[in-house]
This record gives sequence, C-alpha cells and structure tokens, in this order.
Amino acid sequence: MNNIDDWLNNPEVFLADVAATHQFGCDLSNKLTAGTVLLLVGDLGSGKTSLVQGLAAGLGVTESITSPTFTLINEYLAGSCPLYHLDLYRLTSDEVAALHLEQYWEGWEVEPGIVAIEWPERLPDRPAEYWQIELTHHPIAGRLAKITKIQEFRSSMTF
Ligand SMILES: Nc1ncnc2c1ncn2[C@@H]1O[C@H](COP(=O)(O)OP(=O)(O)OP(=O)(O)O)[C@@H](O)[C@H]1O
Ligand SMILES: [Mg+2]
Repeated sequence: MNNIDDWLNNPEVFLADVAATHQFGCDLSNKLTAGTVLLLVGDLGSGKTSLVQGLAAGLGVTESITSPTFTLINEYLAGSCPLYHLDLYRLTSDEVAALHLEQYWEGWEVEPGIVAIEWPERLPDRPAEYWQIELTHHPIAGRLAKITKIQEFRSSMTF
C-alpha cells in the first residue's frame, strides 16, 4: 500500500499473523501526521496492542511497547513524532471523562502526536475527526482489519 486512499478504497486488510499486524501498523505510521487519532476497536486479544507496536516501530521508537492497561497512558516521545498509547479497558465513561483526554487531540499542554486508543467505547467524547480500525478474529486464522475515516457529525466515511 502506497497511499492512505488505497486503504479507504479497500478498507479490509487481512493480517495473516502478528508480523503482518506489526507491518500494517508500521505502514500506517508512515502515512499519518501528528494530531491523528486512531480508535482501535476489537475484542480481547484481537491485536490492538500489536498494531501499536508496529506504529511505534514505524516512528522509530525503540522502547518496548507494553499494554498500558495498568498505567492507562504510555507516552513515547523519542520517535519521529510523539506516540500516545491509551488503554481504557478498566475505566468507566465517568472515569475517562475526568481524565480530559481531549488534551491529546485538541493540542493544549500536550505536543501533537499520533494518539492510539484501545477500548474507545469508554470515551464519552470523541474527536471531530478520527480513524477507526476495527480488528476481528478471522474465522480460520489471523485477523481482519477494517479501516474507516470518521468525520464530524458522526458521518461514517468508508469509501
Ligand atoms: N494477525 C494476527 N494473527 C494471529 N495472531 C495475532 C495477530 N495479531 C496479533 N496476534 C496475537 O494476538 C495476541 C493478542 O494480541 P494483542 O495483545 O495485540 O491484542 P489486544 O487487542 O491488544 O488485546 P487486549 O484487548 O487484551 O488489549 C498476541 O499473542 C498477538 O501476538
Ligand atoms: Mg491491548
């Protein structure tokens, strides 16, 4: 894939194994700019953290990427742009609201970067524009990723 539009035209990507998930994240990171929000939707074990590991590798982050389930937010500032990795699994919507995560995409206090959020169902307020990546277990092996760009007024724009 050379162009982000290729993904929008063919939004389903088959990821045969974890290496493919890493590569997909790496390819994505090269197309995204600071300020992009990625909402990673998918069941337990569907590959969300693996995708973030690929994003981080693509940005040149050398630290190991672990799930921020307990820390909630991991910030990686040593790559070509900041990477913010959030995992909201353990939080309620009220607890998420109290964190004021909009600082990550509205650019106050936090240097703009790529924001990758696991379990975004817990977000009370979403950004005006974001990419949603839905990961599902493939019935035989591997995973399927579906990438969609969502813009203001909740209009879904899968081309
Ligand atoms: N395309 C793939 N095919 C097969 N296995 C994969 C694929 N991508 C990731 N995995 C494997 O799936 C397992 C779970 O991956 P990962 O931790 O990234 O999922 P997750 O969605 O972040 O889970 P959680 O909801 O618990 O945070 C790991 O063992 C990982 O190696
Ligand atoms: Mg995870």
